[in-house]
Amino acid sequence: MHLDPSEEIPLAGGDVTEGVVRVGDTVRRPIGEHSDQVHVVLRHLEASGFDGAPRLLGVDDRGREILTFVDGEVAGRPWPSWVGDLERGRSVARLLRRLDDAMLDLGLPDGATAGPRPEGSPEPVGPAPTFLGHRDITPENTVFRDGAAVALIDFDLTRPSSRVDEVVNLLQWWGGWQAPEDRDPAFDGVDVARRGRALVDAYGLDAADRAWLVPASISTAERSWFSMRDRAGRLGGGWARMWDDGVGDAIRRRELWLRGAAETLGSALA
Ligand SMILES: Nc1ncnc2c1ncn2[C@@H]1O[C@H](COP(=O)(O)OP(=O)(O)O)[C@@H](O)[C@H]1O
Ligand SMILES: [Mg+2]
Repeated sequence: MHLDPSEEIPLAGGDVTEGVVRVGDTVRRPIGEHSDQVHVVLRHLEASGFDGAPRLLGVDDRGREILTFVDGEVAGRPWPSWVGDLERGRSVARLLRRLDDAMLDLGLPDGATAGPRPEGSPEPVGPAPTFLGHRDITPENTVFRDGAAVALIDFDLTRPSSRVDEVVNLLQWWGGWQAPEDRDPAFDGVDVARRGRALVDAYGLDAADRAWLVPASISTAERSWFSMRDRAGRLGGGWARMWDDGVGDAIRRRELWLRGAAETLGSALA
């Protein structure tokens, strides 16, 4: 591809951040509410030699962060059918494991935060957070090469996490753990309990943590309803559009489905 090095090419695919562009081999992204925490994570990953995340190159003269562009294949909307491929999902799980292992070394730096807890949101369930996790492992945030996940991008939701929190998010996006009526067609015909087991095995979660996955998924759904409503009200933009499009109702349906399927899911994981 011949690129004018100064041309700004809009990058579609994200739901929320306005003005993400590619410039040559870099990506420019507006600074967001948790950019300092994101930058701590990206710098730590670079120092650890972890190769599955963009590098932070600095801030440009328009106050945007400069990241390396990671070459490869990223899903847009509508999702390509390969989002449902088991081998792709397993490769995401293995990449996430490597990411979390790299982040564990840093632990929780002073001031690490998930942001204010929205009013009415229940206490989280599961093991206490010990490191800064990614927590937004969507197809739009995963870069593939030759059918395998090679990088995670978009660390905007990084926050104090446990391995359980990370795998709960993985199951939501790559395991089809959504209410059946909201599940993407990419997961048509997929047994999501068995898919979940395969992803959890690929991540290598231990037995004690596995037992938390279903209750923590239910609790995460409950709390997401509050955090999505809070972001829609506070940040507007894409968050408000998602809320107006009914994401809150889909989150409630996910919670109900998880409660109803809890036994099936739990025994598949055990
Ligand atoms: N460093 C990067 N390398 C390659 N592609 C990127 C990079 N950053 C963003 N993109 C592309 O731009 C899209 C939107 O960027 P993202 O950072 O995920 O913003 P949003 O917060 O809107 O989700 C991504 O889905 C991806 O396709
Ligand atoms: Mg994104």
